[in-house]
Amino acid sequence: MKGGFYDRYLLPRLLEWALGSPACQREREITLALSRGKTLEIGFGTGLNLPHYPSSVTDLTVVDSVEMPGKKIEARIGAAAFPVHRTTLDASSRLPADDCSFDSIVTTWTLCSIGNLEAALSEIRRVLKPDGIYLFLEHGRSDDPRIARRQDFINPLHRCLGRGCNINRKIDRFLQEAGLVIETMDRFILPFAPRVSGEMYRGTARRNEI
Ligand SMILES: C[S@@+](CC[C@H](N)C(=O)[O-])C[C@H]1O[C@@H](n2cnc3c(N)ncnc32)[C@H](O)[C@@H]1O
Repeated sequence: MKGGFYDRYLLPRLLEWALGSPACQREREITLALSRGKTLEIGFGTGLNLPHYPSSVTDLTVVDSVEMPGKKIEARIGAAAFPVHRTTLDASSRLPADDCSFDSIVTTWTLCSIGNLEAALSEIRRVLKPDGIYLFLEHGRSDDPRIARRQDFINPLHRCLGRGCNINRKIDRFLQEAGLVIETMDRFILPFAPRVSGEMYRGTARRNEI
């Protein structure tokens, strides 16, 4: 899917504005610190993660369902210290990679908006090496029942206005159901974000072996 005018021109500006804050950049840095070797990022957006990858990353494949043009994105790719391979595809379709091929896989603020999340997570599990690590920084369902009820109420409207973004997904449950074993997980509220969309899940997971 290449995307229409909104996806190609308005969405990138919106993402830079909403996810480019110093608070978000700090969280990206913490999350990406453990990435290494051959790495896959799903939901590349405008490349806001690129400056935060550590030198332990040797090669990066990035995937997004929308092809966003822009000099800023090109500049970020050009400044990376490793090769960046960019692909436009729906991450819930089959990823163009062999089983067990990545040392680390990254998603940040992406699981909320993938339509068929179960299929995308199953692909993440398939292409992650047995000793590889999945790093996630995602917003989702609150553990506070009052906030979760508010999220359920607002979600249909939020999904329409936010280009398919769900605010009430219980991220840890989706990961476990996809055969990923969560090793560490921090729950926190993103500073300056509305409570319903600032409930964060940051952590690491590995594939279970069946
Ligand atoms: C909220 S943005 C986050 C972008 C980036 N990860 C960041 O942290 O700045 C979500 C991104 O996921 C992408 N996305 C949504 N559904 C997708 C899918 N099914 N496959 C691949 N990318 C998808 C969107 O196009 C968008 O770029």
